[in-house]
Amino acid sequence: MDNFTFHNPTRIHFGKGQIEKIADEIPASATVLLLAGGGSIKANGVYDQVKSALGERQVHEHWGVEANPDYDTLMPAVEICRAKKIDWVLAVGGGSVVDGAKFVCAAVDYDGEPWTLVEDFGSSIKSALPLGVVLTLPATGSEANSASVISRRSIKAKLPFMNPKVFPIFSVLDPETTFTLPERQVANGIGDAFCHVIEQYLTYPAGAAVQDQFAESIFRVLIEVGPTTLAEPTNYEARANLVWAATCALQGVVGAGVPQDWSTHMIGHELTALHGIDHARTLAIVLPNLLEAQRETKRGKLLQYAERVWGITEGDEESRVSAAIAKTREFYESIGIPTRLQDYDVSPEVAGIVAGRLRDRGADTLGEHGDLTPERIEAILQAAA
Ligand code: NZQ
Ligand code: ZN
Repeated sequence: MDNFTFHNPTRIHFGKGQIEKIADEIPASATVLLLAGGGSIKANGVYDQVKSALGERQVHEHWGVEANPDYDTLMPAVEICRAKKIDWVLAVGGGSVVDGAKFVCAAVDYDGEPWTLVEDFGSSIKSALPLGVVLTLPATGSEANSASVISRRSIKAKLPFMNPKVFPIFSVLDPETTFTLPERQVANGIGDAFCHVIEQYLTYPAGAAVQDQFAESIFRVLIEVGPTTLAEPTNYEARANLVWAATCALQGVVGAGVPQDWSTHMIGHELTALHGIDHARTLAIVLPNLLEAQRETKRGKLLQYAERVWGITEGDEESRVSAAIAKTREFYESIGIPTRLQDYDVSPEVAGIVAGRLRDRGADTLGEHGDLTPERIEAILQAAA
């Protein structure tokens, strides 16, 4: 196990009715910016609960943060924060609203052009407004981590940034707020959380038993409750387990002191930037072929994953690795997420374009061994046709 420093400062309020905790978290004297998406929180009553918890506080609102939050949508919110002297930002929605809020919080006090904060992966962030979250879509883990992914459609960019200053101060996770999610978004959440664990686990053995077995338990929970929560959207127990699994998948414990990959995400972000494919769906396109391409360097962990997650113990090593990769593809397909480019009407030519974009950005050392070159990434995407 490698050395690590672990500090997750986000307070989680989990369960039914927990939105009222906002009243204890945000000072009564605070001026608040409520950031939201396209309106789902109005339709399902979450907005009313939030307003009631905010009571007499002065609240400004900024709506319209889209899936894959865009710089141009967020900059007006930065201006509101500056003009109205906002003290707290409250993100109410899915991962896109939360990520967008992190950008706004960091940009408010920044003197330069805020896109720089994204371009330099968050390293210029020196301060950020305090952030509270009411999460309505279990998927990204953004409610309890220091990461954000911002798109800028005008230049076809989608880039992640990270900084401890943007950890939410608190997050409310009430599974009932997610009951209104369309099936496609629930499936996306399951698929995204699954891949977050893969990116931190499926590298090479590092002697990290707690991290490994925590990861394996999250995989098993997702495999078990995924189909149930899709079939029974208002089954509280199943949904509660999905919500907590998705948070645990990317709040730091699984990835502490172990090698990480993240190449599936980096390649997937390019597919979203170019073709607008939902984040989780891009991962399903990339992941099975990436595992196939990396089966030698990931062999030890693939065998462990095969046995402990999928119960594959028969056959020689090659066939067990192949079976684990096939099970992974089947899992995505079984929750309604297609795994081929053609399923999204994207031609195989995208392979060369993605490789070129990564090369131009100098991102040619992807993978836990830095061995995923643009040429190999092109081949992975060609295999995904
Ligand atoms: O805009 P509204 O009307 O709210 O509708 C949203 C949106 O259309 C809807 N929705 C959310 N909660 C709902 C609901 N509809 C009905 N009932 C509810 N309770 O769902 C749609 C998708 O929402 P979005 O926030 O985009 O989804 P998700 O949470 O999957 O977030 C995806 C974004 O997160 C980034 C992705 O790249 C993508 O931009 N990621 C962020 C990460 C992080 N910060 O750590 C890690 C991830 O790997 C990921 O990259
Ligand atoms: Zn993700």
